[in-house]
Amino acid sequence: MNVIVTGGAGFIGSNFVFHMLEKYPDYRIICLDKLTYAGNLSTLESVMDNPNFKFYKVDICDVPAIDKIFAEEKPDVVVNFAAESHVDRSIENPQVFLETNIIGTSVLMDACRKYGNIRYHQVSTDEVYGDLPLDRPDLFFTETTPLHTSSPYSSSKASADLLVLAYYRTYGLPVTISRCSNNYGPYHFPEKLIPLMIANALNDKPLPVYGEGLNVRDWLYVKDHCKAIDLIIHKGKIGEVYNVGGHNEMRNIDIVKLICKELGKSEDLITFVADRKGHDMRYAIDPTKIHNELGWLPETKFEDGIKLTIDWYLNNRKWWEDIISGEYQNYYHKMYDER
Ligand code: NAD
Ligand code: DAU
Repeated sequence: MNVIVTGGAGFIGSNFVFHMLEKYPDYRIICLDKLTYAGNLSTLESVMDNPNFKFYKVDICDVPAIDKIFAEEKPDVVVNFAAESHVDRSIENPQVFLETNIIGTSVLMDACRKYGNIRYHQVSTDEVYGDLPLDRPDLFFTETTPLHTSSPYSSSKASADLLVLAYYRTYGLPVTISRCSNNYGPYHFPEKLIPLMIANALNDKPLPVYGEGLNVRDWLYVKDHCKAIDLIIHKGKIGEVYNVGGHNEMRNIDIVKLICKELGKSEDLITFVADRKGHDMRYAIDPTKIHNELGWLPETKFEDGIKLTIDWYLNNRKWWEDIISGEYQNYYHKMYDER
């Protein structure tokens, strides 16, 4: 089987590439990635020489280049992770989010139609459902919760989801969508909450918590997300949406305090800064459907996953230090200096 994985040099995509190469030694994994600021070839170093792996540096919006790759590689399945993924950046500059997340999705699906009605999976997010109030812990997102987005990022992802379902209904393209909650684990880009706090704490820098830190996210270890996508592409029902999450809700402030504790750092590093515009209060996934239909359950408890993650950042300092020593500095100053 030939599997195209877009965005495979990013956080979740790279973990998915490793998962697939290890689990299916007879599959070919073809990674397509533009290598934006968030894509990192060094992440894929360990698989570059694997004969079952091939890497293309390409923009998913580039129609002729995508056509050529599809014609040559003859994929059986396409899994689309490629996206602009950071909410704060989408608030600063929405345009590129619309291009990659919406237009890129349509370019990939058009190629799927053109080269033999290829099986297509869209990696989406729980953010398409908007947020839930803190005082209603009984409420969860199900697959039928109406889309109700807050940020340019989540709006671009919801638009893509609608397009994917339209391609299913209009053209009969064999599609599925997964909507996952917040991931954490190895190779997470240090602009996101958990890796940013680990990197800053290790460098004894302030830990910038937005607002009062009371916002709740539903954290899932990245390898559990990869296993869910593996199940969906092999056994999922065509045309369906699957929510993926582990009933692991935590407040941001508690995550940051936990990281301080694990690293032996003082909570005095915590600095409350101006809130994110339009900040979603709470995400919480109901994963009953994927559990009942496909037998998926998260395997990694948060207390184990966060230790594994912190150990990974301690043991792979070069990976994240190279990132935060480059262009990231400009981003960090722009985002946090005046906050
Ligand atoms: P990431 O930002 O770490 O990686 C994105 C990757 O896509 C990078 O390698 C980047 O170079 C590549 N890319 C960006 N624009 C491209 C383009 N035009 N053409 C080709 N490649 C391009 O993102 P991530 O956190 O790994 O998220 C992957 C997917 O999962 C995204 O679609 C995101 O919306 C979704 N998702 C993420 C989370 C999470 O917690 N991180 C949760 C649910 C869903
Ligand atoms: O829910 C899934 C989504 O999770 C994905 O679709 C997105 O691609 C992914 O980036 C993530 O979005 P969030 O906005 O939830 O993740 P982020 O790590 O940016 O922020 C998590 C929470 O931490 C959020 O409430 C904002 C807060 N935060 C974040 C940063 C970067 C801080 O308090 N301080 C910070 O410096």
